[in-house]
Amino acid sequence: MTLSQAKAVFIWGTVSSAVILLALTYNSLSQIPQRTHEDRLDAQVASGKWVWQKHNCNDCHTILGIGGYYAPDLTKVMSYRDAGWMKRFLKDPEKVWPADRKMPNLHLTDQEITELTAFLGWVNGIDTNNWPPKPVAAAAATASEKPGEAVFKAQGCSACHTINGVGGKVGPDLTKVGGRRTKEWIEEQLKNPKSHNPDSIMPSYAKLPEKDREALVDYLSGLK
Ligand code: HEC
Ligand code: HEC
Repeated sequence: MTLSQAKAVFIWGTVSSAVILLALTYNSLSQIPQRTHEDRLDAQVASGKWVWQKHNCNDCHTILGIGGYYAPDLTKVMSYRDAGWMKRFLKDPEKVWPADRKMPNLHLTDQEITELTAFLGWVNGIDTNNWPPKPVAAAAATASEKPGEAVFKAQGCSACHTINGVGGKVGPDLTKVGGRRTKEWIEEQLKNPKSHNPDSIMPSYAKLPEKDREALVDYLSGLK
């Protein structure tokens, strides 16, 4: 290669990369108003963002990739929680359920809670190309699996509950449920969730065959 050929490769390589970069940047920026449905960004949503900052929710939670990973990512929290649940939870997190890792009661005012809920609803609607990814389903059943574990999977409990990092977040994490609930309590929860929480959205498993329910209770009460 001659010197002038090398120069041409350098110059045209740089120019064409720069053009592609600028075109892609322009393309991304021009999509932002639509992907964030800017038109729905009203005063309440904006106030909710201030409340989020004032109480440093980011110290523990992440939205859109910014924040801590101590507590659940809240980018899409409003796709599995409704506004009523959110307001009850933010008013007194521990009353909704006793978690291993507690969300402190931040003593938010009703107005702050309403604004936060609007803000989280707006964030939830942003087109993030499916980020954050949903938890990957557990690998196929292993030979060492306990009978109750198989029932847990077959009944789809993990749509709402996480065990050892796998599953949904609609209900409490059950990784250590055996440490905080007795066998009798768990059995009652399965038969009649409304006995412990009248507003419970957990379905009743009263119709589950006795043998399956026993296996499930054994399995869960052993998780400590
Ligand atoms: C000191 C850490 C900490 C701070 C600060 C904090 N949280 Fe949390 N939050 C948690 C933990 C831990 C959980 C999970 C607890 C549980 O499972 O009950 C949680 C759970 C939640 C949930 C339920 C998530 C789900 O998957 O259902 C919401 C909503 C929430 N927090 C909102 C907020 C908001 C809004 C703020 C700021 C006003 C905030 N949090 C500040 C630690 C924190
Ligand atoms: C539609 C979501 C949903 C499904 C499906 C579901 N649960 Fe739940 N579960 C919840 C919610 C929400 C709670 C929190 C307490 C309440 O509101 O009843 C809960 C609470 C529990 C608790 C009490 C945890 C604690 O520490 O307080 C246990 C145990 C439990 N579920 C087991 C199961 C099992 C086993 C299955 C499958 C057979 C199941 N759940 C299916 C939503 C669900």
